[in-house]
Amino acid sequence: MMPPPAPSPNDRTRARILRVNHGGEYGAIRIYRAQIAAARLTAPALSGFLADTLSHEIEHLGRFRALMPARGSRPCRMLWLWGLGGSVLGAATGLLGRQAILICTEAVERTVHRHLDDQLSYLAGRDEEMSKTILDIQQQELGHLDFAVASRGPKGVLGVALDGVVAIATETLIWLSTQGDSVRLARELKS
Ligand SMILES: [Fe+2]
Ligand SMILES: [Fe+2]
Repeated sequence: MMPPPAPSPNDRTRARILRVNHGGEYGAIRIYRAQIAAARLTAPALSGFLADTLSHEIEHLGRFRALMPARGSRPCRMLWLWGLGGSVLGAATGLLGRQAILICTEAVERTVHRHLDDQLSYLAGRDEEMSKTILDIQQQELGHLDFAVASRGPKGVLGVALDGVVAIATETLIWLSTQGDSVRLARELKS
């Protein structure tokens, strides 16, 4: 029997994009679940937003998962790390209250948005189905970001620090779960 053809660099990049996005959505689900639990005590007025956002993230996870088999991609082996990181981030910010929840949403969604932008410019003319899915999802992520920015109060020094910590934690999670793949991926996306 003939061995399957080696994946082309284009296929490998698409598989990597899907793996990291799928892991990211898995982490986002854990963030919002933990925040929903904590916000019952600390910020009940946010429960509607958090529940809607969680339902979007669950849908995103399914949409990325559905694109994976045809592109030779499998879920990240370190999904547990996404789950753990997301739960810790969600619980910590959830317990801190409304402002911390919104700053966390802003920092995570802003980081996601930038990654999706890079992916979209790489995929243009290469994979229409994947581009369309990412574009749809990006619109919803932008809705989460806009709500957080519009609803939070002025950040202050502590808020700016929290934003920085969450953004670094998100980038670190992406890097760890892809074992440095995210750096290679970023390089490929620019090529
Ligand atoms: Fe999402
Ligand atoms: Fe989101």
